[in-house]
Amino acid sequence: MPAQRKPIVAIDGPAGAGKSTVAKLVAQQLGLLYLDTGAMYRAVTYGVLAAGIVLEDQEAIVSLSAESEIQFRGSQVWLNGQDVTQEIRSPTISAHVSQVAKIAGVRRLMTQQQQAIGSHGGVVMEGRDIGTQVFPKAEIKVFLTASPQERAKRRYQDLLDQGQRVGSLEELEQSIRNRDFQDATRDIAPLCPAPDATIITSDGMDISQVAAAIVELYAQSTLQGVCS
Ligand code: DC
Repeated sequence: MPAQRKPIVAIDGPAGAGKSTVAKLVAQQLGLLYLDTGAMYRAVTYGVLAAGIVLEDQEAIVSLSAESEIQFRGSQVWLNGQDVTQEIRSPTISAHVSQVAKIAGVRRLMTQQQQAIGSHGGVVMEGRDIGTQVFPKAEIKVFLTASPQERAKRRYQDLLDQGQRVGSLEELEQSIRNRDFQDATRDIAPLCPAPDATIITSDGMDISQVAAAIVELYAQSTLQGVCS
């Protein structure tokens, strides 16, 4: 009997909602692959800035993106044979990545790679447009969000834990609001919940509670598959 195709879990939502931590935990608990699609846009942005390409030069950015090889090695992210795991989390990359992520040609290339990685199912993929564009037929779709204040507090702590330089909490909240606005109002694949996504607002919930809620959705979806 052929092995049953495992479901795809799409976790979308704004910056700092806790997607990465939750998605990793869910993947671990369910024994699925984990893919952070934001890291791919960040890696391209790193390449663009390192090459000295101006953000207005969309053609050059798309060409560079087509030539870039992004690899996930365990928890590391590599760009063209260079470990960029730390670099792609810097405030400079965070400040510029939305401008790269809104370019149609870049999105097309990233989406193709993401679809190839998830083509056999069995993956927890986190991003902004996984349930709407990348895998609109994903079996489980979650839109994970939290208030901007809550998200700023969490991101602030994450950056401190990673030993990154951080400004004030207010600056961070403002940058999160700016990025939300850019991501939600861009023409292509704007950040919005899929109509059939389960929306989880995680204020006041800890990571394990959010993960447990998603694991429960997964369990329900595999049960539904049994009799169909
Ligand atoms: O999740 P993150 O903060 O690492 O994402 C970085 C940027 O990439 C953010 O501005 C949104 C964008 N992004 C996107 O447009 N589509 C995705 N699937 C993932 C991230």
